[in-house]
Amino acid sequence: MILLDFPLYLMETLKRWCSLCGCIIVFMFLTTVSKGLACEAPSSPQCFKRKAEEAFYICEWSMNTTESDVTFDLYFFDENFGSTNTTWYEIHEDRLIKTRSVDIWVEAYVGNSSCTSTKRSVTLSQTVKYEAPQKISISWLKNGLKLRWAAVEQNSALAEVRFQRHDEHHTELWENRTTNTTIESSMYQVIVTNMSKHSAYRVQIRHRPTQPRNPLWSDWSPVVMVPAELERSPEVSVTTRLVNGTRRVMLTWKPMPHTASVGKVNYTLKDTQSSRGCPCEERTHHFKWNKYTTYISYSAANISVIARNAAGYSPPAIIQVPAVPAADLKSCDKTLLNEKLNKQTCLELYDLQDGDSRSENVITLTGRKKKKEREQIRESIKDYVRYLYFEHTCDGDRKPRTVKRCLFYKKEGVPLREPQDFTPSSETDHSVDLSWKAIPSVDQRGFLTHYSLCRVKISSQEEHKDCQNISASLINHRLENLTPGTKYNISLAGVTRVGEGPRATITINTQPKKPVNGTRLTELTLMFKLL
Ligand SMILES: *[C@@H]1O[C@H](CO)[C@@H](O)[C@H](O)[C@H]1NC(C)=O
Ligand SMILES: *[C@@H]1O[C@H](CO)[C@@H](O)[C@H](O)[C@H]1NC(C)=O
Ligand SMILES: *[C@@H]1O[C@H](CO)[C@@H](O)[C@H](O)[C@H]1NC(C)=O
Ligand SMILES: *[C@@H]1O[C@H](CO)[C@@H](O)[C@H](O)[C@H]1NC(C)=O
Ligand SMILES: *[C@@H]1O[C@H](CO)[C@@H](O)[C@H](O)[C@H]1NC(C)=O
Ligand SMILES: *[C@@H]1O[C@H](CO)[C@@H](O)[C@H](O)[C@H]1NC(C)=O
Ligand SMILES: *[C@@H]1O[C@H](CO)[C@@H](O)[C@H](O)[C@H]1NC(C)=O
Repeated sequence: MILLDFPLYLMETLKRWCSLCGCIIVFMFLTTVSKGLACEAPSSPQCFKRKAEEAFYICEWSMNTTESDVTFDLYFFDENFGSTNTTWYEIHEDRLIKTRSVDIWVEAYVGNSSCTSTKRSVTLSQTVKYEAPQKISISWLKNGLKLRWAAVEQNSALAEVRFQRHDEHHTELWENRTTNTTIESSMYQVIVTNMSKHSAYRVQIRHRPTQPRNPLWSDWSPVVMVPAELERSPEVSVTTRLVNGTRRVMLTWKPMPHTASVGKVNYTLKDTQSSRGCPCEERTHHFKWNKYTTYISYSAANISVIARNAAGYSPPAIIQVPAVPAADLKSCDKTLLNEKLNKQTCLELYDLQDGDSRSENVITLTGRKKKKEREQIRESIKDYVRYLYFEHTCDGDRKPRTVKRCLFYKKEGVPLREPQDFTPSSETDHSVDLSWKAIPSVDQRGFLTHYSLCRVKISSQEEHKDCQNISASLINHRLENLTPGTKYNISLAGVTRVGEGPRATITINTQPKKPVNGTRLTELTLMFKLL
């Protein structure tokens, strides 16, 4: 059968038989009938409900025309439903014959001419056509691409997905997949397997109900651009500069791969200082450039950068910014721990128990916290433990700035242990060299103000204890003015403000008195000793 479009004046169906070369050609229905040139026939109308339970049918059609003034009459089983200037018509189901097949068509009027669409025979009952899927969200899974959009009804739908690898010229072939959707929190969901995560795609979806007897496919959704998966974290390079109590951290990274950047890529930057509540505003930044400058205080922070596109996000790039090293920290003269804090201030206490400032042991106190919470935080500060105390503030433009760093004990005690490996060497007749290792900081339990170094002559009548104070920063000392040929007990203890810790004790013998003159005699003494 050949359908011909005759630009003729024939008003009715034309059938013509023609016999040629022994075969029969049927010139069939001249269904498109035009009166005048300005009118090109509209498509035959499609009538359906948007959802099974709706009471209204929509009949819609289309027409190619440049005229603005077009009206249509909708015919349903010879009944004219009247004129409209839209390309659709809404009719209550009670006005329609639904259970048997009837003809429907449209007549269009353009200026002085009119034209009629093809007739279509339809049984309307259970004819449902959904709206095209909208607002489709996409994400790459291990095994394929997950597509989600709003569910029209409670029942699962049938979905057809068409996709084409994205290239500039749109030359790649379209592929189609038809699957049943699942429903999750009022969203239809399908997973299209065997798509490559390394490619970008153009995707369209249409869907139709599964329950009604006469389901129609919806229109195709708008084209969705699906970027490739962001497989790698951004490659970030960092430069930091100390600026008056704060650090200016400049981060730059390479653009994401081309295929993953289809559509748009955004970045999210977070720093751990803000996740600990210190010190300024919420410090999660979203932006679209591949560089960013931020400010962090002097304490250690991790900064993470994540790239996001429409189909997911990259693993985070984690930049570890160590604390600004501080040599010779003093003990705190004064802290704000028991003061009323303003909202700009944040205190941090790093537990230096193990000699390092690991961030998991940090106590954070800010003016933003509730009173009760602040009390609990204060109570969690332990006695006899050395803390590294930071005082940060927020400058007007939300830059965190470190105002103070010092060492802090909530309460001091006496050292728990003696100085370690207390050893004498190079005894002479009047002196001895002493060396030792510092008391481990966890055992100091307070600031050492000094060491107390004492000597006692043994086996003399007057067991007089003779002590002196030596600097807490020393680890060796020459003890002078000893009596030759004498046995001494020598002891060393660390001292804090609260008192003295246990003593390390050694016993030494000074050499006999040397004759005033020279080495020979020393040799003689040695020989004498050997004998
Ligand atoms: C309108 O024109 C387009 C392109 O020429 C064609 O594909 C389409 O079928 C036409 N629509 C109708 C209702 O004739
Ligand atoms: C339409 O008909 C009117 C009067 O019958 C006439 O004046 C007009 O020129 C016609 N227009 C066209 C486009 O044929
Ligand atoms: C969808 O589900 C129906 C009924 O559960 C089944 O008959 C049909 O084959 C399924 N279609 C596809 C494409 O999986
Ligand atoms: C550093 O900060 C302090 C306090 O805000 C300010 O008074 C001082 O001028 C600043 N110095 C520099 C070099 O910016
Ligand atoms: C930064 O990250 C490392 C590794 O995950 C972690 O050990 C460290 O405690 C973190 N530092 C901060 C300041 O959060
Ligand atoms: C050592 O220091 C303590 C405390 O400062 C002081 O009381 C004591 O007199 C000092 N001892 C000597 C021998 O200087
Ligand atoms: C000297 O030290 C020893 C061992 O520590 C101890 O037994 C002795 O009593 C001490 N002597 C004096 C006089 O302190």
